[in-house]
Amino acid sequence: MRDNEGRVIDYLRISITDRCNLRCIYCMPEEGVKNICHEKILSYDEIARICSVLAGHGLKKIKITGGEPLVRKDAIVLIRKLKKVPGITSVTLTTNGVLLEQYYDELIDAGIDSITVSLDTMKRNVYQQITRRDELERVLRGIEKAIRENRVRLKINCVCVADIDTQNVLALLNYAQRADVDIRFIEMMPIGLGRQFSFVSEAVIRKMIEEKYGKLTPYGKTRGNGPCKYYDVPGFIGKVGFISAVSHKFCDTCNRVRLTSDGFLKSCLQYDHGVYLKSLLEQKVSDEILWETMKTAIKQKPKAHHFDEKKTKNEDEIRGMSQIGG
Ligand code: GTP
Ligand code: 5AD
Ligand code: SF4
Repeated sequence: MRDNEGRVIDYLRISITDRCNLRCIYCMPEEGVKNICHEKILSYDEIARICSVLAGHGLKKIKITGGEPLVRKDAIVLIRKLKKVPGITSVTLTTNGVLLEQYYDELIDAGIDSITVSLDTMKRNVYQQITRRDELERVLRGIEKAIRENRVRLKINCVCVADIDTQNVLALLNYAQRADVDIRFIEMMPIGLGRQFSFVSEAVIRKMIEEKYGKLTPYGKTRGNGPCKYYDVPGFIGKVGFISAVSHKFCDTCNRVRLTSDGFLKSCLQYDHGVYLKSLLEQKVSDEILWETMKTAIKQKPKAHHFDEKKTKNEDEIRGMSQIGG
């Protein structure tokens, strides 16, 4: 399937819950998100139906995200279901890692294709400051288990929080030095609470890495399904990656749409463009009607975000990052 800009859309990011067991300051308010009653959330069968209709029109890759996806009951059951959808070649997970040690074996058994852990710092006090929780030890145990078992590609996402953490982020590179783990630095995007923070640019982190470890060489090949650009670092086993949505817009090559836990098919991260699917599913409409509805929303995917403009637009997203799924 292609949008009106001619971009091939073959990647769906699904936020299966907006709830989370952490409270990252750039993502969630301290009190958490408002409870959505169970009936308003897409069931796993409804998610699988959406995926199989889309897969009939070119969807290949699925990201399970949240909130924290592993806090939703039976997330593994959904992963198993999606792995069986004809045409789907990859089902990956982005998690905060708190429950990774507990679920790692089941994730592997369900056939997960890669696991990304969001971890912004290796320092306990900084971790507490960013996440408002004291779970670093548990996350590190999950990462160690994933490295030891080495059953799927493991990546770490670090959103470098200006003022709090810039100097400490290099400590994460130790994983890529000693194992085949990719460390990816993400520029803070002005979405939801992220608007209240300034971003630390790729250029700043790059300079810090090169001063300490030597020149970064572009890896040159794609790796994964997302917008990350990867580099080799002298002596490292894993790669270093940058997801630089603010300083290096990648909208021209965008391949994805999103689905929120309450059934909104969302065509772009920054805008509130899309269509609610929950009631259509409940009315048991045909696959053709479901596809025509989704196709109309996908075709109208906006050309690009406008993070570089300071002012907001009427059509901008009002959902928070935990509802959108990143
Ligand atoms: P893989 O590389 O296959 O793991 O996929 P990914 O990088 O898309 O997944 P992940 O969930 O780890 O997302 C990494 C970061 O990229 C998050 O901060 C997302 O918000 C951001 N991101 C993903 N897609 C887009 C996009 O379309 N636009 C923008 N601006 N950011 C995106
Ligand atoms: N900007 C960039 N990345 C963000 N994430 C959450 N909020 C933001 C933001 N404002 C990241 C999480 C997770 C991924 C899915 O999105 O840290 O790694
Ligand atoms: Fe939870 Fe991820 Fe948001 Fe942190 S960034 S509060 S881990 S959903």
